[in-house]
Amino acid sequence: MSKAKTFYISTPIYYPSDNLHIGHAYTTVAADAMARFKRLTGHEVWFLTGTDEHGQKIERVSRAKNQTPKEYVDNIVSGIRNLWERLEISNDDFIRTTQDRHKKVVSAIFQRLYDQGDIYKASYEGWYCTPCEAFWTESRLDNGNCPDCGRGVELLQEESYFFRMSKYSDRLLKHIEDNPDFIQPVSRRNEMISFIKSGLEDLCVSRTTFDWGIPVPFDPKHVIYVWVDALTNYISALGYGTEDDSLYKKFWPADVHLVGKDIVRFHTVIWPIILMASNLPLPKQVLGHGWLLLDSGKMSKSKGNVVDPLELINKYGVDAIRYYLLRELPFGSDGYYSEEALVNRINKDLANDLGNLVSRTLGMVQKYFQGSLKGPGPAEGPDGELIELAVASPAAVEEMMDKRELSNALGTLWRLVSRANKYVDETSPWVLAKDPNMSHRLNTVLYNLAESVRFITVLTIPFMPLMAPKVWSMLGIADRPDLYTWESLRWGLLPAELKLGRGEALFPRIDPSVLE
Ligand code: ME8
Ligand code: MG
Repeated sequence: MSKAKTFYISTPIYYPSDNLHIGHAYTTVAADAMARFKRLTGHEVWFLTGTDEHGQKIERVSRAKNQTPKEYVDNIVSGIRNLWERLEISNDDFIRTTQDRHKKVVSAIFQRLYDQGDIYKASYEGWYCTPCEAFWTESRLDNGNCPDCGRGVELLQEESYFFRMSKYSDRLLKHIEDNPDFIQPVSRRNEMISFIKSGLEDLCVSRTTFDWGIPVPFDPKHVIYVWVDALTNYISALGYGTEDDSLYKKFWPADVHLVGKDIVRFHTVIWPIILMASNLPLPKQVLGHGWLLLDSGKMSKSKGNVVDPLELINKYGVDAIRYYLLRELPFGSDGYYSEEALVNRINKDLANDLGNLVSRTLGMVQKYFQGSLKGPGPAEGPDGELIELAVASPAAVEEMMDKRELSNALGTLWRLVSRANKYVDETSPWVLAKDPNMSHRLNTVLYNLAESVRFITVLTIPFMPLMAPKVWSMLGIADRPDLYTWESLRWGLLPAELKLGRGEALFPRIDPSVLE
C-alpha cells in the first residue's frame, strides 16, 4: 500500500491543570492550518490533539479544589474541547491519557522495555521541578533552581526505574545528523545535537511520591513517569499494539509532531529512544515553534499572565484570531502578543486589503451588470500580470507550507490580494462604466477580479475556514463545491453567469478605541 498521500500531524497533548491560553491556541491553530492545507491538496490526513492528564501537579491542584483528579480534569478537558470547536479545529481524534485505550499501550511498552533489560531498578537522588515534571542533577541547576523555568526544585530520593537512554545515544545522534528534516527549525536541531553530545544520562521513569498516573505493571507502587506516559499518545491513539491497528499501519510514522520549543528536547531525545528501543520507526519531523510573549515574559498557566482565547473570539471572530496568530509569528521565532497588533492586522490586512477587494468587486458586478457577467474578452493591459500571479499562487503557497512557513504562506497569498487591488486602480472600472463602448472591457475586468477572488478564497480555507462559505454565497456558487477544490485553481472556471447573493462585510473595521 502506498503511503505517499497520507499525512499525520499532532499537537502536544496539553496539561489540563488550568484553562488553556492563546499560546496553546497558537500551536493548535498552526497544526490545524497544516492539516487543512494537506486535506485541500488531496492528502489523507490524521490530525491528533488531546490532553496529558496524569502527574503530581494535577494531583495537587485537584486536591486544592477538593476534587478527585479525574473530576478536576474532566471539567477542564470539556472546556478545552469547547475551545477547539470554537476555533474551528478539525482534529480527527482527541486522546486523553486517562483513557483505557492509552493506558494499556503505555503499560505494554513499559513492560516490554523492562523485559528486554532497557528498564532497570536503582536508587536515585535528584532535584525535581514539579511544574516542569523534570528531574535535574545538581550540576544542571541554575543557581539552585530549575534551569528550564527558573523556579525552585525539591530534593527527592527514591527507588526508581531507569531507562537506558545512554545506550541509544550514538544511534540517536546519527539519526539526527543523517536526517536534516527530523528536527526543525535548524536552530533547534543544533541545540539538540550539542545537548546529546554533552552526554545522555539514563532517565528516571517511575515515581513513588504520588499516585495519579499509570502504575508500573510489575511493581504497582510506582507510577510511570508522566513524559513516558504522555509521549506514547502519538501511537496509542492510532491503536498501536491492539487488535485494530489499522490507523497505526496507515499513518505511522507521523509526518509532523508540532510542539513549542519548551518541549523539543522531550520529543527529540526521550521519544525517539523509546521508539528505537521498541523497534518502531521514528516520526519524520519534530517541529519546534517559538513562544508568544507578553511584556511580562512568556505566557504561562503557572505564571498566571495569560490571554483567554475565548474572549478574543467573542470580540473579534475566529477567522481574525486565526489569521493574526498565523501571520504575526514568523514560524520558529518568538513573537510578542498584543491586542493592538491584532486590531492593526484586522484593519489593514483583513478589512482594508481582503475585505475591500471582495466587496468592491462584488459591488461593481452588481452595480454595473446587475450581478451577471459574460465570459471575459481578450486579455490586455495588466490582465496578463494578474492572471499569471493568480495561477502561480497555489504552488507558491504550497511551497511555503511544505517548508512549514505559515506566515510566509499568508504573505504569498497577500501578494495576490495586493495585486488584485492594484488591478482595480489600474483599470479604473468606474471610468470604464461611463463609456458604453467600454462595456466589454468592463465585463472582462470584473470577471478577472471575481476569478481572482475565487482563487484567493480557496487558498484562505486552511487558515480562515469561516470566510470561504460566505464568499461562495456572495458569488452565487454555494452549490458548486467543484469550484473550491485545489484542482479548480485553473483560470477561467468561474461561470460567467453569476447570480450574486447578498453581500456582507467580511471583516468589519475595528474602531481602535476598543483598546482603551
Ligand atoms: O508541555 N507560546 O503541556 P503544556 C507558544 N503536557 N506556545 C505555547 C505557549 C506560549 N506562550 N505556552 C504553551 C506540556 N504553548 C505536555 C506536553 S506532549 C507529549 C506533552 C504550547 O500544557 C506549546 O505548544 O505545558 C507548548 O509546547 C505547549 O503549549 C505546552 O503545553
Ligand atoms: Mg508547560
